[in-house]
Amino acid sequence: MFQESPISAEYIVIKALENGVTIIGLTRGKDTKFHHTEKLDKGEVIVAQFTEHTSAVKIRGRAEVLTKHGRVEAGI
Ligand code: TRP
Repeated sequence: MFQESPISAEYIVIKALENGVTIIGLTRGKDTKFHHTEKLDKGEVIVAQFTEHTSAVKIRGRAEVLTKHGRVEAGI
């Protein structure tokens, strides 16, 4: 998927619906580790891509998540 570069990967959008929403990046590959944590306060938005280092994210708290698969709300 990222043989060339992750720059062309799809973006996802995460909008915090409350203070203290946490986005945790999980490593790509055989081992699954937390490698980055980002805190968002209510109304803050992250626009992000998956990369060769990150294959999944875990979201704690109420947040709106937009991807090409649609909209999902976390934390309800
Ligand atoms: N290291 C795992 C991987 O690259 C990370 C991962 C991907 C994951 N999807 C997941 C962890 C779903 C938990 C649930 O495949």
